[in-house]
Amino acid sequence: MSAQLSIRDLHKAFGAVKATNGASLELLKGELHAIIGPNGAGKSTLIAQIAGEIFPDQGQIHLNGQDITRVPGWQRPRLGLARAFQVSQLYTEFTLLENVALAIAAREGKAFGMWRPLSRDTRLLEPAMGYLQQVGLGLRAQDSVQALSHGERRQLEIALALAQEASVLLLDEPMAGMGADESARMTELLHNLKGRYAILLVEHDMDAVFALADRITVLVYGQTVLTGSVEQVRNDPQVRAAYLGEEHA
Ligand SMILES: Nc1ncnc2c1ncn2[C@@H]1O[C@H](COP(=O)(O)OP(=O)(O)OP(=O)(O)O)[C@@H](O)[C@H]1O
Ligand SMILES: [Mg+2]
Repeated sequence: MSAQLSIRDLHKAFGAVKATNGASLELLKGELHAIIGPNGAGKSTLIAQIAGEIFPDQGQIHLNGQDITRVPGWQRPRLGLARAFQVSQLYTEFTLLENVALAIAAREGKAFGMWRPLSRDTRLLEPAMGYLQQVGLGLRAQDSVQALSHGERRQLEIALALAQEASVLLLDEPMAGMGADESARMTELLHNLKGRYAILLVEHDMDAVFALADRITVLVYGQTVLTGSVEQVRNDPQVRAAYLGEEHA
């Protein structure tokens, strides 16, 4: 299987803190690959480098064989890499459908033009509806974002990432702050996307990770210490001792 995304020996320091200290992993085509590790292990810092929000001090990031280590973050969606849960992505006064339509318009750039009212532009609204249906929000299309629960907002944010038409999705803690029902819905949503996208998932919810992941990479002190199947990671004595505790053993 070919790697869509490959990270080789990445390093990133913030002053004396080595937030990324030798991180390597390969995300295969259509794979759901989870990254787990304790608080402060450097998971979000790693995602930020892959998304191009910050640049590593050392190491390389390749997307579909192309070195993107120094490509600015805003150019990466066009190359096939999208991150969900960016800040201020949502226009809370607008409907869900309008939000997704705007994301498509932004992706298409000036080619679309804004001369036609968004509410009637079927070239935007039809695909926008399709993305909403994929995340289970089709029936909420005409509601305003303000009316959404926390969990539904996160579902909408996944739809916005899908609207980027990328083949690789980066998700940093999609279940954060969710109750059991919302987590279950998000798990089902990600399960439905599985196989169609290569997904790099950072998540503390181990039930979700074990249910979804094809492979898991364990990150400790900025270093990738182990990559394996769910069974391999679950049964690794060091992982059990250091991170999982008895609850999931
Ligand atoms: N911009 C920054 N400036 C300085 N230090 C930072 C910065 N970002 C992260 N760090 C530090 O880098 C280390 C890794 O942080 P990071 O947020 O990547 O961990 P994490 O694995 O995502 O943790 P969590 O599970 O709590 O989300 C921490 O020690 C953190 O304090
Ligand atoms: Mg984090």
